Amino acid sequence: MHSKLVTVDVKPFLKWPGGKRQLLSQLEPIIPLEFDRYFEPFLGGGAILFHLLSRKSQLTATVSDVNPELINCYKIIKYNLKELIKELKIHQKKYMKNREQYYYKIRDEFESKDKIENAAKFIFLNKTCFNGLYRVNKSGKFNVPRGRYLSPNIVNEENLEIISKLLNRNKITFKSSDFFKSLESVKNGNFVFLDPPYFPSCKSVHSTHYWSEPFVYSEHERLKEEIDRLDSKGVKIILTNSDTPETRRIFKDYMNNSIKVNGVRVISSSANTRSDHKQLIIKNF
Ligand SMILES: C[S@@+](CC[C@H](N)C(=O)[O-])C[C@H]1O[C@@H](n2cnc3c(N)ncnc32)[C@H](O)[C@@H]1O
Repeated sequence: MHSKLVTVDVKPFLKWPGGKRQLLSQLEPIIPLEFDRYFEPFLGGGAILFHLLSRKSQLTATVSDVNPELINCYKIIKYNLKELIKELKIHQKKYMKNREQYYYKIRDEFESKDKIENAAKFIFLNKTCFNGLYRVNKSGKFNVPRGRYLSPNIVNEENLEIISKLLNRNKITFKSSDFFKSLESVKNGNFVFLDPPYFPSCKSVHSTHYWSEPFVYSEHERLKEEIDRLDSKGVKIILTNSDTPETRRIFKDYMNNSIKVNGVRVISSSANTRSDHKQLIIKNF
């Protein structure tokens, strides 16, 4: 009934390193047309979720990320949009008066008991910090320096309203958990999209840091075991990663169905540069 409801482009509301908007044209033709439930356990900025929301008349999904403050933003956009927009407008105004001082004040205060306040601060910091990175120190405190944007788009009211409507119109369950836990309930007939933190694409570039626990080699091995378990149930899976010897080694059982993608520009957090980057889209069907 709603297949033509969304005619506007739905954009992620965050800048998220490794966001998959640039890969959409390669992913779109291989995403299954029919499935009962969608699972995305490395949600990040949600580029694929938003794409599916604008493509499908009714989406049933379980989406999650290890970052609870990120997941809190999605929930607040769904349930408390008005209050969120009000707070974002206040941040926008105060930031424009004294950028440096205001950014570090909010960064220091970040994470209180008030969920709406936290979501507004998360979005504000994401739009004004360096490259939209999310990095925390050993005690779990957000520590990314300020970015140098002339006019950061802190309140994209129209886009937030579209997202909120779509989240309310569809059956989306949000969770903040490790991917392993989120995939427990996947069944035959479901579709799973996996976009973990990538293997570093060359020795000088470290993997993008998203969380206090880095996604190291053994995490990719753990993911491969989980893929095997789901594959044996007949679940359709798409996985993205950098095209490295490590990726090819760990996911070798699925390499026959992989697609090589060249030249997508990525942000490298540590080297403080952007580089062309070869990627793999790996699937089991
Ligand atoms: C490459 S990003 C996903 C980008 C997303 N596809 C997009 O379009 O914006 C990887 C995400 O995995 C999350 N992550 C890292 N370790 C995780 C874990 N063990 N379980 C679940 N999510 C994890 C990070 O917080 C990050 O948001």
